[in-house]
Amino acid sequence: MPTPTIRVLKDSDELAAAAAHVIIHAASRAIRARGCFTIALSGGSTPEKTYQLLAQPENAQKIDWARWYVFFGDERFVPLDDPRSNYHLAARTLLSHVPLPSANIFAVPTDLPNAASAASAYSAMVAKFFKLTPTDAPPRLDLILLGLGDDGHTASLFPGKPSLQEKKLWFTGTSPGILPPPVDRITATFPLLNAGREVMFLVGGAGKAKILQAVLSAKTWQYPCNHVVPQDGVLLWALDAAAAAGLPHISGK
Ligand code: 6PG
Repeated sequence: MPTPTIRVLKDSDELAAAAAHVIIHAASRAIRARGCFTIALSGGSTPEKTYQLLAQPENAQKIDWARWYVFFGDERFVPLDDPRSNYHLAARTLLSHVPLPSANIFAVPTDLPNAASAASAYSAMVAKFFKLTPTDAPPRLDLILLGLGDDGHTASLFPGKPSLQEKKLWFTGTSPGILPPPVDRITATFPLLNAGREVMFLVGGAGKAKILQAVLSAKTWQYPCNHVVPQDGVLLWALDAAAAAGLPHISGK
């Protein structure tokens, strides 16, 4: 189990640039090795700058978008055109600005009756893409982007929820945690996250310094994000200096 790599960038712009660089290079490696790149996007506000950078012509022209396949590590159980939707965030900042075939974008079907049925249907969609069944071992996504909530959650794996104990399903429905928006979610489970070839946490801003210090110095695995331990993959924490302020002895860059 490799130890996580921690990179501290000067500010949010450098963090976004570093994250875009990681994504572009992960895509090149995956396309060279397997002919395609599978990525799970995260929601929240942190990745917005990174998504916008990827859509900038100087980056977008380097990318073989037709070989990208986009999934979501979690989704709010709201319509996809709802501003709270993670799909809506990705579409607004990236997906609607690049020539990524719509057939290559796998949005969570939030028009189903409830989050549990949406999660089950999403697992089936992902399984079909990977030519697996939802009861198989989870697929190995090339890159999974994750954020960190102030309560130590990641994706929509919230403290105290049954989803933390899920050992078989790839996606599950969950009631909201303590942080907004107060809507049910669909979330990847630890089995899916830990099957990732590369998992990158993107954490920025002074508001995350306290929780980041806690999760990265956790003696016990007391936060959900501590359970993201790719079994045969790379774990990267990409931080800006403001978020990393409480981390002792972490050199920048
Ligand atoms: C979501 C995200 C969630 C997010 C963290 C951090 O659906 O909200 O997937 O896990 O990444 O809560 O959010 P910020 O980037 O807004 O701080």
